[in-house]
Amino acid sequence: MSENYILGIESSCDDTSVAIVSSDFHVLSVKTVSQTSVHRLFGGVIPEIASRNHLAWVIPAVNAALSDSGKTKDDISAIAVTNYPGLTGSLLIGVSAAKGLALGWKKPIIAVNHLNAHIASAFLEREKRPEFPYLALVVSGGHTSLIDISENERTVLGETMDDAAGEAFDKIAKMADLGYPGGPIIDKMAAAGDAKKYNLPYLLKNNNKYADDIVFSFSGIKSAVKRFLDEGNVDMPSLMASFQNRIVELIERKVKLALSRKKYTAFVVSGGVSANSAVRKTAENIASKYGLSLYMPELKYCQDNGAMVAAAAMPDFFKRNFSDLDFDVSPTVRPKIRP
Ligand code: KG4
Ligand code: ZN
Repeated sequence: MSENYILGIESSCDDTSVAIVSSDFHVLSVKTVSQTSVHRLFGGVIPEIASRNHLAWVIPAVNAALSDSGKTKDDISAIAVTNYPGLTGSLLIGVSAAKGLALGWKKPIIAVNHLNAHIASAFLEREKRPEFPYLALVVSGGHTSLIDISENERTVLGETMDDAAGEAFDKIAKMADLGYPGGPIIDKMAAAGDAKKYNLPYLLKNNNKYADDIVFSFSGIKSAVKRFLDEGNVDMPSLMASFQNRIVELIERKVKLALSRKKYTAFVVSGGVSANSAVRKTAENIASKYGLSLYMPELKYCQDNGAMVAAAAMPDFFKRNFSDLDFDVSPTVRPKIRP
């Protein structure tokens, strides 16, 4: 069978990323233009600036990804692009570019859900895909979701009721003046700290009314961390280690709750926060305890990237399940298909 190549475009937040991925999930090239240094000036992503930068970089990124892959546009079998959820203006730039390429190059197009793309990032450069049903945890700057995935259905078992896991890292780092984005900074700092030094509250535990539900909440820990910061003279690595510990403990407890309710074959962990060393270690422990195959993206595919978008489009590509050119974007839920 001849190899197929999918060109994937990701522009849902602040990174413009284009990749070429083969139908056996091998990444030929990925070109990501990061805007972190710009948004760092504001301590978070400014949507208007993000979309203007996507506009400037999306076509150069397409050209660079193509030339790095050693392929030409004639080798591309389909274009995949994230169309929800994300920042509306940012999504529109990627989707418009993808539609333009699909029209100009006469290629089919596949609209991709950003969460499915994160999940598919765990399959890049892997020989096999997990067997159904499997449990997927997506932990990123915008999402914290546990999803039950069977052959024909995806059921969201639980989500965050307030901040996403990555958002919690970013907000705490901002509060402690550590820099942006907070996740990698805190992860590194926590490695040198004592996680038992600060007695931060457990999240959704004991008498909490959500103790037995598959839901997440990360906002409650902010005031406890702030209290220690306000007292001054903090051992920052230990405070950050204590904070990270509580975040990961909640994730672990809710994953175990889901695993106690249904038998799964595999556990997939993805999203920007899946780069976290404590999250990765916990995922390994859970997989080995429950006898699950573990799928986690390589570190370079944890953050938003075009390769995961191409990977997520693969099942639709093989079913010839292409999108019509008039599909929409949406900040939250799946956009309605026009009648
Ligand atoms: O998946 P992603 O690139 O974008 C979204 O879809 O949101 O995730 C970005 C998030 C940021 O909140 C960042 O702080 C977090 O991932 N992150 C981490 C680590 N690396 C990135 N959080 C914890 N530990 C890390 N090592
Ligand atoms: Zn993402």
